[in-house]
Amino acid sequence: MTTRKLRFTKVAILVVIIMSIGIIACNTASKDKTLFTAVEAFPVPERLAGQTHVLELRAEPMDTVRIAIIGLGMRGQGAVYRLSYIEGTKIVALADVVPANVEEAQKTLKELGRSEAVGYTGAEDWKTICERNDIDLVYVCTHWDLHTPIAVYAMEKGKHAAIEVPAALTIDEAWQLVNTAEKTRRHMIMLENCNYDFFEMATLNMAQKGLFGEIVHAEGAYIHDLRWLLFDEEKGYWDMWRLKHNQKEDGCLYPTHGLGPVAHALNIHRGDKMDYLVSVSSNQFGLTEYAKEKFGEDSDYAKAEYKKGDMSSTIIKTSKGKTILIQHNTTNPRPYSRIHMLSGTKGFAQKWPRTGISLEPDGHRYLSDKALDSLLKVYEHPIITEVGGKAKQVGGHGGMDFIMDYRLIYCLQNGLPLDMDVYDAAEWSAIIELSRVSVENQGMPVQVPDFTRGAWRELKTVTYFKNE
Ligand SMILES: NC(=O)c1ccc[n+]([C@@H]2O[C@H](COP(=O)([O-])OP(=O)(O)OC[C@H]3O[C@@H](n4cnc5c(N)ncnc54)[C@H](O)[C@@H]3O)[C@@H](O)[C@H]2O)c1
Repeated sequence: MTTRKLRFTKVAILVVIIMSIGIIACNTASKDKTLFTAVEAFPVPERLAGQTHVLELRAEPMDTVRIAIIGLGMRGQGAVYRLSYIEGTKIVALADVVPANVEEAQKTLKELGRSEAVGYTGAEDWKTICERNDIDLVYVCTHWDLHTPIAVYAMEKGKHAAIEVPAALTIDEAWQLVNTAEKTRRHMIMLENCNYDFFEMATLNMAQKGLFGEIVHAEGAYIHDLRWLLFDEEKGYWDMWRLKHNQKEDGCLYPTHGLGPVAHALNIHRGDKMDYLVSVSSNQFGLTEYAKEKFGEDSDYAKAEYKKGDMSSTIIKTSKGKTILIQHNTTNPRPYSRIHMLSGTKGFAQKWPRTGISLEPDGHRYLSDKALDSLLKVYEHPIITEVGGKAKQVGGHGGMDFIMDYRLIYCLQNGLPLDMDVYDAAEWSAIIELSRVSVENQGMPVQVPDFTRGAWRELKTVTYFKNE
């Protein structure tokens, strides 16, 4: 073979090898893609003609916010108390199917020097309340099943809606909230009080000022031993509603307390969005064992089926490549924790089980207690500086509940966008059904619907608005 022929053969062999590698790589990539693409279990519906998004929605300002509170159980009674401490509020209507709960709330109004409200006790009276023309805000503290129906009806009747967590139980309900808010241009806020806790607000401030660098990973949780309350027929939840959810569904039943604060630190739907998630649950052991010990092996509670696995772990990947771990466990004996952890390229913060912060250049070590105290003072969130003292006096989970109500009323009075919008409510609540689908399919990746339908790119950061 001549030298020229030999060179040609060598080049040809090289080309064949390169092409083969290319083909194998392409095949592997496309196989990987097929294998690992998250399932779009819930496709995003088209926005209805004539509707636009409600990011940073502003409504007409008002001097007095006229409120109806629906659901006056453990949570609703606290709302009556807190809202009575805020100037510029008038509680016009109170509703609960248990008349004694309405009476108790009226007593609170009286003790705090407020006028008596109109009381309602019918199961469907929330509709009549939403139809009244002397109410601006419908504030819902019922069991979960009524949250979306009342909020949607309230918005349809021209009211702003504030609903306890979670806002929606299914993706369909989440879309109902989004579509109704976009159609009516009314505020729909989910009352996620944990965003307003003192450490969470400080770490939001730190995150926004770049102290942690690029936040790469965050964790949140709702770990709270509720076994005694779930089974308490006298002092527990109305009609055992929470136990019934543990019987019916697996997955992350209560994601919003852990997710809310870290989602704001990560600017979710303000420049980034949740892309897909995977979720795995342990089996259920806790409720059955507890029921056997408390009520006997042969009791109905011991023999009942509980679909909710004790430990639920969900990992969410964002479009910009960050990860969020959300855990849920209310059925084992564990110390309370919402974790609240932010981990970035320049620092780390965590609230539970040990509150601490570490920063570059000494990132592998916690700051001393003294250094932590002074850092928290320097980065105290301006809203805490403004109202933290009063919040501690009025109370509600150490004050965060009051700050939440105070901010809601302040923004409504001033016609400002609310701190949390309908997309937060939809995204954070959507984890319930998305995690269930993933759990039922051995941790299969499931796409998180983009409830903003592309508008998440328009904003850069979360803003808690203040009048200049
Ligand atoms: N953000 C928080 O920190 C926090 C804490 C606890 C509870 N929650 C949420 O608050 C909500 C209420 O929880 P809870 O612990 O007060 O439960 P609960 O069972 O004590 O209260 C629910 C109330 O709704 C009433 N109700 C039932 N049907 C009604 C109807 N048709 N019309 C009007 N009222 C009706 C019941 O009589 C009961 O008083 C839940 O969504 C829960 O997730 C939030």
